[in-house]
Amino acid sequence: MFVSNTKEAPTGNLALDLVRVTEAAALASARWLGRGEKEAGDQAAVDAMRLIFNTLNISGTVVIGEGEKDEAPMLYNGEKLGTGNGPRLDIAVDPVEGTNLLAFGRPNAICVAGAAAAGSMYNPGPSFYMRKLVVPGEAADVVDIDAPVPDTLHKVAKALNKDVDDLVVFVLDKPRHQLLIRKIRETGARIQLHTDGDVSGALMAVDPRSEVDMMMGTGGTPEGVLAACAIKGMGGRILARLDPQSYVEKDAILEAGLDLRDVLTTDSMIKSDDVYFAATGISGGTFLQGVKYSGGGAVTHSLVIRGKTGGLRYIEAHHNFDKLMKISTVNYD
Ligand code: FBP
Repeated sequence: MFVSNTKEAPTGNLALDLVRVTEAAALASARWLGRGEKEAGDQAAVDAMRLIFNTLNISGTVVIGEGEKDEAPMLYNGEKLGTGNGPRLDIAVDPVEGTNLLAFGRPNAICVAGAAAAGSMYNPGPSFYMRKLVVPGEAADVVDIDAPVPDTLHKVAKALNKDVDDLVVFVLDKPRHQLLIRKIRETGARIQLHTDGDVSGALMAVDPRSEVDMMMGTGGTPEGVLAACAIKGMGGRILARLDPQSYVEKDAILEAGLDLRDVLTTDSMIKSDDVYFAATGISGGTFLQGVKYSGGGAVTHSLVIRGKTGGLRYIEAHHNFDKLMKISTVNYD
C-alpha cells in the first residue's frame, strides 16, 4: 500500500471516548424523566459526566460549563477534567440540554459534550443569550444574520432547491420570538415550535435526514458554542450575535470586553479543526432516541462527530447493568 508522507498518519478519535461521558450522563439522568425535578436530573447527569471525564487521558478545562463555581458547584467554568496526561483541551458541557424537557418528559432532552484544542473555543463570559441562524451546507454562503427574515427564507429555499412553503424553520416558543414567528408565517414558510432544546434544533437544521431545514431565533450562548462544535464536523453554518435579554446581562458583557456587534461564525466560535462532539438522547424524540431501560440494562442512542475528518457516527449502545453495577460507582440501576 502506498502511504503519502505529506498526509497525516491516522490518530485516535477522542469523540469515541466523549460518547462514554454523554452515555453515562443520559443513563443516570433518564431515571428522572417526567418526575418534575429538574435539579435532581441535572445533578445525576453532572455526577456521571464528571466521573467518566476524569478517567480520560486529557488535560481539559471547562470553558462552557454550568456557570461560575460559586453559583453552580457542578462542572463549573475553569474546572479541570481528565487525568492530566494527554492533550490540552477546552471542554464544553451541557449535562442535560433541556432540563425542563427531562423534568416534564417532553422530547429532545439530550446530554451534550464538546472538546476542542486548548484556546480555540469561544468563551461567552457573562453572555447568556445569542441570536442564531443555522442552515445546512447548501445554504451556507447565502445567509447574512442582518438580512430581513423574508430575504433569508427566500435565499435558503432557493439554495435548497425548494419553494418557501416547503421550508420548516425550528424556532424556540418564547415571547421574544412573536415578531420572528409572524414574519416567517407571512413569508409562507412553516415552523416547528419547541419549548426548549436549541442544540437539537441546530443539529436538525444541518442534518439532511431531518425535516427541519433551518433554525432561527435567540437561545443560550453556551448552546450556540456547543452547536458550533458539532457543525464544524457535520457541515452547514451557524451565524450568531450576542443578544442580551436584560440590562444587567448587557452591562456585564460590555464590562467583559465583548462586542455586541460581532458576528460569530462556526469558525470564530471554534477556531481549530481539532474538535470533537458527542450527544446522547435522554427523553427521545425527533433528533435522538431516548434511553430505553429493560430491567437488566438499557439501550442508548448517540451522535459522535470528529471535526477534522467530518466523521459522523450514530451509535446504538447496549448497556448490561448486571455487569456494570459490579464495577460502577454510578447507580444506573
Ligand atoms: P436548559 O437545559 O439550561 O434549561 O436550557 C434549555 C434551553 O431551551 C436551551 O436549549 C436554549 O438555548 C435556552 O434554554 C433558551 O433559554 P430560555 O428558556 O431562557 O429562553
